[in-house]
Amino acid sequence: MFPRDFAWGAATSAYQIEGGWQTDGKGPSIWDTFCHEEGRVFGNQNGDVACNSYELWEKDLECIQQLGLTHYRLSLSWARLLPDGTTRNVNQRGVQYYNRVIDDLLACNVSPMVSLYHFDLAQAIQDVGGWKSPGVATLFDNYAKFCFQTFGDRVKLWITINEPQVCAKLGHEVGIHAPGLKEKGTTAYLVGHNMLRAHAMAWHSYNSTYRITQNGAVSLALNSDWLEPLDPGRSEDVTSAERDLIFTLGWFAWPVFVTGDYPELMRSSIETQSKMMGYSGELRLPRFSIDDPPILGTADFFALNYYTSRKVKSGGCSEQILSMKRDLAAEEVLDPSWPICGVSWLAVVPNGLRKLLKYIKDVFNNPTIYITENGFAQVGPLQIEDVERCKFYKSTILEVAKAIEEDEVNVRGYFAWSLMDNFEWADGFSARFGLFHVDFSDPELRRTIYQSGREYAKIISKYKSV
Ligand code: GAL
Repeated sequence: MFPRDFAWGAATSAYQIEGGWQTDGKGPSIWDTFCHEEGRVFGNQNGDVACNSYELWEKDLECIQQLGLTHYRLSLSWARLLPDGTTRNVNQRGVQYYNRVIDDLLACNVSPMVSLYHFDLAQAIQDVGGWKSPGVATLFDNYAKFCFQTFGDRVKLWITINEPQVCAKLGHEVGIHAPGLKEKGTTAYLVGHNMLRAHAMAWHSYNSTYRITQNGAVSLALNSDWLEPLDPGRSEDVTSAERDLIFTLGWFAWPVFVTGDYPELMRSSIETQSKMMGYSGELRLPRFSIDDPPILGTADFFALNYYTSRKVKSGGCSEQILSMKRDLAAEEVLDPSWPICGVSWLAVVPNGLRKLLKYIKDVFNNPTIYITENGFAQVGPLQIEDVERCKFYKSTILEVAKAIEEDEVNVRGYFAWSLMDNFEWADGFSARFGLFHVDFSDPELRRTIYQSGREYAKIISKYKSV
């Protein structure tokens, strides 16, 4: 059912696993700052130590081998490599760390997929405006070039930015992620814009300078729920669901895969609200300038993070201020038949993934797709025999198989989130997404395989050898 060269992976990110937050010359990131502020994260927890992968990398590698992964997705910490965010100061200890990780993976026949940015902006860059400032794109491009130059001889799959939608919205509109801004209605669009500009600059750098010798592929990882009308017979619900997909996935995928610009529907919805609210400031959804690198075509594959689904109905927003919610003018609800796994937002809907894959095939010109994240959280009492998660992986992977076989979607890989329990952002260590359990009360941070890890290993070994 799966192509022979299908990528069977698991994913992690630097801040969520590494720890060593100020070890060997690492600079602070916005997540270090955010977590050290009272009341930001569940139980005031932080990633100072996390899984201590900075020191315990061999243990992670053992887990990777035990699963039989063909690929491992990790992210680089910008501030570990470039403590002040610029290439003026390179932290060689950071370079050594990632060199070792990459070399060890390759020695075990595991291909690295490397994200340059997974939520952890160098604090020094935040201090000069962060993603709000247009200059961040050049700083990111310099960082990206440094990484391509340093690691690109061995890394063939790159993600520039992970989930720009989440970063923009949760970090700058809702404020529950770093840097914790709640600047409703404007900043998230500006941040998203600069992230797209940064991504495109890095893709062009790779394309013009590194591709010829390194021959890899570069994309950005886009998150989306599957969004479908609450009442398919009600045209307002149908258009609301379409609009929601446009605002969530189209926001970034449209410019990159379809037109080089934001979806018209998104722009017009935002402008309508601006007018209605008597807003006369700068365009809230910026325009790309001719000085920006072209955005269209700046992805060599489609990287999708899928977790859950929602039903959508039309609905205004009662708040009398400009906000993304108001612009969207739709309401998301859960279908009561969907089971909820540990965290409240995560309804278990494996077949939403198949529908979303088909949508991507149809709307974004049949791209090659890697599912770069998908997973199931456990909260409360620890269950090593995590039967529900086993079922979840089996049925999700079956949906991926159907998408490939029946819908002819070009899916090339699947990465489970996550290799091991880790620091789950605002939820701290309370939500466990791992295929391996990490005992955070044990000074050795012992990793123990969950039943779902064994199950995933079985699936991998079955299809790897077909
Ligand atoms: C994604 C994110 C991951 C992980 C996951 C589970 O949005 O990229 O870092 O935390 O969600 O919530």
